[in-house]
Amino acid sequence: MSNLTCPAIRRLAILTGGGDCPGLNAVIRAITKDALNCNIDVLGVEDGYLGLIENRFRPITEEDISGILRRGGTILGSNNRANPSRFATGKQADGKPIFQDLTENCLRHFTSRKIEALIVIGGDGTMTSAAWFAKQGIAVVGVPKTIDNDIQGSEITFGFQTAVDTATDALDKVRTTADSHHRAMVVEVMGRNAGWIALHAGIASASDVILIPEIPFDLDKVAQVIRDRERRGKRSTLICVSEGAVQRGGSQIVSKVDLTSPDPIRLGGVGKYVADCVEQRTGTESRYCVLGHVQRGGVPCAFDRVLATALGNHAMKLLREGKVGRMVAVQHGELTDVDLSVPAGKQRLVSRDHPLVAAARAVGASFGDC
Ligand code: F6P
Repeated sequence: MSNLTCPAIRRLAILTGGGDCPGLNAVIRAITKDALNCNIDVLGVEDGYLGLIENRFRPITEEDISGILRRGGTILGSNNRANPSRFATGKQADGKPIFQDLTENCLRHFTSRKIEALIVIGGDGTMTSAAWFAKQGIAVVGVPKTIDNDIQGSEITFGFQTAVDTATDALDKVRTTADSHHRAMVVEVMGRNAGWIALHAGIASASDVILIPEIPFDLDKVAQVIRDRERRGKRSTLICVSEGAVQRGGSQIVSKVDLTSPDPIRLGGVGKYVADCVEQRTGTESRYCVLGHVQRGGVPCAFDRVLATALGNHAMKLLREGKVGRMVAVQHGELTDVDLSVPAGKQRLVSRDHPLVAAARAVGASFGDC
């Protein structure tokens, strides 16, 4: 039995929205354990906001959360296309989606199921809808997640460190084959418009070039790094490029557009572009490798398990204190909370003068800009 002072809440729901990431189950576990200890019923919303729209809920029991701390993905399922206030319900003759506001349906489901609080675990898109439901009078608390680490209001999100570890491991492996063949190897990592994964994994793998969206690159400068390294007798050049990196004067390379999604752009292809261009310029054989969703999958690292547990616990603390319409966050290494409008629809990017950018430059990495 818990000796915590429990709130008046008798039933809460948990929803995981947006792209999945390692650590989601650890948050679900932390919240559910705490709630069940306080005799609060826990319902899981299936497949993110889609399940809320379609009235798909299921109880989360002690048995459901047993052994899930280390499991990747989310036991509830997720969705990065469903926005309740602008949901694509069909297509016009020209193929463009027809959008409908289904907020009222969702509110009805809350009432009919007697749900008194909602904890949403997600990124900026999920928090945008969470802020919307808070405005409609729902007691919502947000928990930030994303491998991209780009949530405004929190200096760190769980899932990020696991993705960095995965990317670093891949870069280390690619380095050995690059050395064998005297090649330039380009590894494209995720991150959307933020370069955090590339910056961290690039430093951790001693990548020679790190290309991030926030610092437009010049291909001649990248080619110069390869030539300089060859002149110094180096066997290879390792280039870590963020999927959102952009050539100076150019634009991001888009792999797919999904108009039904709140964030319709899917990035991808810059790795191949950079590899082809530097081979042309230098004559050095080049290859590329796209890590893709490998970075989102698998077992969360210890750091993410701990962070996810702490954030889940903090979300329950906020509910208990009646602090709703808030997102739990980490600032200056401390757990805190911010208004849900802070992360809604925004992204936390790498600043050009971030200490890690300076540290990377100091150990010889080029950002392809000078
Ligand atoms: O936001 C997480 C993320 O993995 C991004 O890094 C990436 O750009 C995007 O999601 C991919 O989305 P999807 O799973 O729809 O391809």
